Amino acid sequence: MALSGVEKNGRELRIHENADELSSNLAEYIADLSEASIKERGVFALALSGGSLINLMRKLCEAPYNKTVDWAKWYIFWADERMVSKSHSDSNYKLTKDGLLSKVPIVHSHVLSINDSATAEQAAEDYEFAIRQLVRTRVISVSEINDCPKFDLILLGMGPDGHVASLFPNHSVLDEKVQWVTFITNSPKPPPERITFTLPVINSASNVAIVVTGGNKADAVHLAIDDVGPDCEVLPARMVQPGKGKLVWFLDVEAASKLEDAKFSE
Ligand code: 6PG
Repeated sequence: MALSGVEKNGRELRIHENADELSSNLAEYIADLSEASIKERGVFALALSGGSLINLMRKLCEAPYNKTVDWAKWYIFWADERMVSKSHSDSNYKLTKDGLLSKVPIVHSHVLSINDSATAEQAAEDYEFAIRQLVRTRVISVSEINDCPKFDLILLGMGPDGHVASLFPNHSVLDEKVQWVTFITNSPKPPPERITFTLPVINSASNVAIVVTGGNKADAVHLAIDDVGPDCEVLPARMVQPGKGKLVWFLDVEAASKLEDAKFSE
């Protein structure tokens, strides 16, 4: 690894030589958190995003993890989902099904996908209701600081504009404080209709990881992590600050190339 375990402004940075190395480290990180959570609570509640993240999780489906992870104890959620049918190529569910769910023995009833035949508003409401049921039965823990669900791990990607989940820059969705899951109908990145976890839910998780590769995201990584001063726009990725949880950024050297003070090993 080019740089590992570095703390910067309350975040741990793990910077990798390339996507392959990142993928190995990410698989180990997820497997370790799964083991710890199952030992402590009997289950592992994991929320995913779409984009390149799923491909970067590919090593979880390979040895040793395909055999060592206790897949039967996993519950899968989406931190955001596009309002398309589950068989559509834009669906985050389909992406995850093809890249992960079809390859490891996760229990079908533990996969909490959205109601894809509803409106975005109704789907967000239904999704929050489903999460509330699972908080009640303690499949998902509850935060000590508010009544929010406390996911064991939320995995996020980040767009070049600094968006995470479907929380886009300068969008009113960033101000949502009450709902756990909300919806948007004007996403700047297609498709326009999406549902998304809100910031209070993301920031209540036990662990959050933001996984970013590629030089086209280097400016956003810099703005999200470095001390950039009050005049710079506050990107949604910068607003990810889990209160009691741990935040880790998984980067490759290209994505990290504009970070201040990141000294990479040869
Ligand atoms: C979505 C994704 C989105 C994604 C980022 C990063 O539904 O659009 O969940 O938030 O994670 O846009 O995507 P890439 O890693 O593919 O750039």
